Amino acid sequence: MTIRPIRYLGDPVLRRPAKKVSRVDDSIRRLIADMTESMYQAQGVGIAAPQIGVGLRVVVIGIPDEEPFALINPVVIKRSGERRLDEGCLSVPGYRGNLTRSIAVTVKALNEEGREIRVRAEDDLLAQALEHETDHVNGTLYVDRLDSKTDLVKLEPARVHSGGGAPAEDDEDE
Ligand code: NI
Repeated sequence: MTIRPIRYLGDPVLRRPAKKVSRVDDSIRRLIADMTESMYQAQGVGIAAPQIGVGLRVVVIGIPDEEPFALINPVVIKRSGERRLDEGCLSVPGYRGNLTRSIAVTVKALNEEGREIRVRAEDDLLAQALEHETDHVNGTLYVDRLDSKTDLVKLEPARVHSGGGAPAEDDEDE
């Protein structure tokens, strides 16, 4: 496993719609392992392949205290409701935004074995991460979903992750 550097806002790889994975093989599973390591290293709760410079439709979600899992070719097939949330992104360090996300989200994808799965979440961090990470493989960042520039807040330097201690729950980035 290799920890790979996170790509930041301004890097064109984050803006290109990623390519569909045609076959889930060992190279994809190695990518997933690298993404998982890179996500934990950066203290994120989710990561998409473009964030480590790979233009493939692969995401990993790692909710605190739960097993991380991968979604390959994820598509949101159902969403309902609206809620206002605070959100961050590993590719936009030092900022948080306040935006509208769905309450319930269902994603269809392939798992690491190449089998079709559906993941449904409601009114929790997973539901937020499902939308956030699926956006990433479409070239969309959460900053695109803000109603106004004033909904983006620059964090005080003391609140920016510097590797010291575990982040509070509302400080996690995706
Ligand atoms: Ni993100």
